[in-house]
Amino acid sequence: MIRELSKHEYGKPKSIVEVAGRTDNFDGHENGNRVIYVYELDDRAIGEGALVFKNDDPDYTIHNQRVYISRVIVDIDYRNQGIGEKIVDHLLKVAKEKGFIEASIGVDEDNYAARHLYEQKMDFTTILYQGEDEAGKYLKLMRKI
Ligand SMILES: CC(C)(COP(=O)(O)OP(=O)(O)OC[C@H]1O[C@@H](n2cnc3c(N)ncnc32)[C@H](O)[C@@H]1OP(=O)(O)O)[C@@H](O)C(=O)NCCC(=O)NCCS
Repeated sequence: MIRELSKHEYGKPKSIVEVAGRTDNFDGHENGNRVIYVYELDDRAIGEGALVFKNDDPDYTIHNQRVYISRVIVDIDYRNQGIGEKIVDHLLKVAKEKGFIEASIGVDEDNYAARHLYEQKMDFTTILYQGEDEAGKYLKLMRKI
């Protein structure tokens, strides 16, 4: 049900990227720095999450040690059914297989559903940083894998 999105599928209509109406760029996919996973139901992507191996922010990635989890999103009609948990769980499993021992994630302070998922359900209990940017207050979270 969860599978890696291959390059040639990138941007295809079935992708959650379109479902979610997101058109922002996905730098890093081409050079292998980012791997995107989709959660499919009846051949339709209803969730997505990505692993990023190198991020410009040194809190988020450490070479071969800490991987960054990015763009976790579930179609609004399918939320609160544990799909987000399954996606994050899968990303952690893949990261572990690749030899990483820590995973980081960034979340807006007032994104309570995402925080519940990361902090309560998925044990991202280490706060690396608590700050604010133009988009508002946010947290950088981390856990051992
Ligand atoms: C964050 C997101 C991916 C979670 O996906 P999901 O499939 O609903 O995740 P799950 O069902 O595994 O877990 C969600 C949990 O949040 C809880 N929750 C939902 N709304 C909440 C709220 N306002 N306050 C606290 N907890 C909340 C749910 O009850 C559930 O917990 P439970 O299983 O203990 O009942 C989804 O809400 C989403 O796509 N949000 C928009 C994109 C986004 O913000 N992504 C995160 C970027 S950091």
